[in-house]
Amino acid sequence: MENVSVGDQVVVHHGWWKADDPWVQAGKDPILAPSAAIWGYNTNFGSFGQFCVAQAHAVLPKAPHLSWEEAAAPTLVGTTAYRMLFGWQGNILQEGDLVLVWGGSGGLGGQAIQLATTHGAQAVAVVSDDERGEYCKSLGAVGYINRKNFSHWGIPPHWTDTAGQKEWLSGCRAFGKAIWDVLGERRSPEIVFEHPGEATIPTSIFVCEAGGMVVICAGTTGYTASVDLRYHWVRQKRLQGSHGTNDEQAAAYNQLVYDGKIDPCLGQVYRFEEIGQAHYDMEQGKNVLGNKVALVGAPEPGLGRK
Ligand SMILES: NC(=O)c1ccc[n+]([C@@H]2O[C@H](COP(=O)([O-])OP(=O)(O)OC[C@H]3O[C@@H](n4cnc5c(N)ncnc54)[C@H](OP(=O)(O)O)[C@@H]3O)[C@@H](O)[C@H]2O)c1
Repeated sequence: MENVSVGDQVVVHHGWWKADDPWVQAGKDPILAPSAAIWGYNTNFGSFGQFCVAQAHAVLPKAPHLSWEEAAAPTLVGTTAYRMLFGWQGNILQEGDLVLVWGGSGGLGGQAIQLATTHGAQAVAVVSDDERGEYCKSLGAVGYINRKNFSHWGIPPHWTDTAGQKEWLSGCRAFGKAIWDVLGERRSPEIVFEHPGEATIPTSIFVCEAGGMVVICAGTTGYTASVDLRYHWVRQKRLQGSHGTNDEQAAAYNQLVYDGKIDPCLGQVYRFEEIGQAHYDMEQGKNVLGNKVALVGAPEPGLGRK
């Protein structure tokens, strides 16, 4: 291994693939390869730094100013958000663009807001209360929308249900107007940063700018994406799946963290024996700001800074 020596402080990104995979050998994006997997999720090499097995290409320098738990906090969500915003030719985030970020105070969302703003774009966050919204603003969001003020979520009524469609559309339009109210001008997002899925995707596609992209990496509320094709084709929008990261994207993201341009958004820190509590808190929607981290090898928080 040429990129790492014994004693180096490192982080590991989650892109994993077989080096002899013909797709990889052909020089194509390796995270799309048949052998591609998410390290630590699809693979089970564990999370004990002393014992885990990682591929050399995924090992990156840890930012020296960060503690172990700060360094661990954003590696998954940050690299994923980077690919979502900068990985899709034709809809790569541009300076001056507007990004609508669902779950802005969560793991992915906090990274997406910062990636957008450090790139000279604007981010409007969607959240479920004011505390989360203010947190998004502290990360650089122009403002936020409280999704609890709307009720048109989920699969829209069938297009033959005229009355139902009318009501659903008025909910969508009100949500779109809320974006304009935050911005103080009538602009639609060039990129909608999605992960809730079923509950929100029809709205995301509706509010997306013509020629824009709704990019999605999860479906936490469900997997059925209902798309009104009339708006989709006439306004020539893109619905793009995104998953994991490749080496270039992970390295570019890690450099931003290394240079102190991106805050890792460390949330609640749990001791190893509290991991069950962390899962319970996640299920209960507690300690929701930023990324939850469990200390695995570190005996206490705050270690690892140089
Ligand atoms: N494919 C990949 O490579 C990849 C990588 C990383 C993560 N993921 C997945 O992405 C998802 C999100 O990860 P995360 O770390 O950001 O999770 P998180 O920190 O729990 O944040 C999720 C956010 O979703 C929002 N949310 C919850 N219910 C919602 C609803 N009904 N409508 C709209 N928003 C809702 C919440 O914000 P409010 O309640 O404030 O709206 C919350 O902050 C997870 O499923 C994760 O597994 C995928």
